[in-house]
Amino acid sequence: MSVLSGKKIILGISGGIAAYKTASFVRLLIKAGAQVQVIMSPASCDFITPLTLATLSKRPVYTQFEKDFGEWTNHVELGLWADLMIMAPATANTLAKMANGLCDNLLLATYLSAKCPVFFAPAMDLDMFAHPSTTENTRKLKSYGNIEIESAYGELASGLIGQGRMAEPEDILQTITDFFNNQSTLDLKGKKVVITAGPTYEPIDPVRFIGNHSTGKMGFDIANEAAKRGAEVVLITGPTYLKSINSSVKVVSVSTANQMYKQCHELFSSAHIVIGAAAVADYRPKVVADQKIKKNDEEFTIVLEKNPDILASLGEIKAHQFLVGFALETENEIEYAKNKLKKKNLDLIVLNSLNDTGAGFGKPTNKVTFIDNDFNVFPQELKSKEAVAKDIIDQIVKSYAK
Ligand code: CTP
Repeated sequence: MSVLSGKKIILGISGGIAAYKTASFVRLLIKAGAQVQVIMSPASCDFITPLTLATLSKRPVYTQFEKDFGEWTNHVELGLWADLMIMAPATANTLAKMANGLCDNLLLATYLSAKCPVFFAPAMDLDMFAHPSTTENTRKLKSYGNIEIESAYGELASGLIGQGRMAEPEDILQTITDFFNNQSTLDLKGKKVVITAGPTYEPIDPVRFIGNHSTGKMGFDIANEAAKRGAEVVLITGPTYLKSINSSVKVVSVSTANQMYKQCHELFSSAHIVIGAAAVADYRPKVVADQKIKKNDEEFTIVLEKNPDILASLGEIKAHQFLVGFALETENEIEYAKNKLKKKNLDLIVLNSLNDTGAGFGKPTNKVTFIDNDFNVFPQELKSKEAVAKDIIDQIVKSYAK
């Protein structure tokens, strides 16, 4: 079933030769299951008849403020009804009016009243398209949040060749299908997600530290996935060579467990979801030498003291937050992971078993098992870390909704 099924779409047609293409566009929308309300500017009726479009859309077409028998066409109601409005073709004149708030016909009044996303597909001759005023109007419209469906390069009605052809109906359909598909997966919109990633480095002296093999990849992939799904993401990461991160993710670089602890606590009260994917060192050297330690004795002992358990400390103070932890186990995996979930007051734990081939540090793949706070166990397949990140976010969204 198409994502367009049941969607309410206003098709606004203005007066250009490309208006003839809207007949096939309406057919495509209806075939995809959309409800289509066509509104035409008076000039567009010279290019295609309202009767054609009413027949194809199976609805009356509106062209003016007054219906038959003195009844008023309520443009405000139309603007609120729609899930999406698309101006195709959008002529230079209609673009200019849209950009400047003019509403001398029903179509423009509906545009100004619309609360839904508005797309526009410019269609005009190449010189009109290239004129600085058209460029400026397009820029203005986009700055208001309207979405341009770029016109194509090719033969124009004038016989000239250049940019200005309205995008083909199939391409417009694809653009709005993609839009609705993406919108339906923006399931973390409005949520602030804090993620820890990577190792921590616990200094011994100015040149040495205690660290581990974590690359940070799992945490980075989770951050990317959460951002893709609309979350406001802060990634608190220990030292890593990874660079590739969604530009909307705020990256906070730390080195030690104590620094990571501090950053997590600073962000905790405003966070909705916290995911601890970092491999935090459990211990740190009790004393950090000021100068490089020289090799004198045959044996050398470093006294370690416990680092704070970041997730457990958040679990103690959590209010509305949804807390997710990882567990890396080598034996009695499920039992140990359940204990960790309980002890740290988590809502979900992601278990990595080193007994699973393909799972663990430095590998591109991972095999995890989810355990929720009702102790339901959900084993997953071996997958790329990107795919595991998607599964983790899916599971969080499901459990969080509960
Ligand atoms: N974690 C943390 N702070 C620590 C240690 C761990 O926030 N000081 C988090 C990790 O990010 C991970 C989870 O706790 O999400 C589990 O860490 P793990 O090292 O597997 O478990 P521990 O609780 O340290 O227990 P143990 O090492 O005894 O298995």
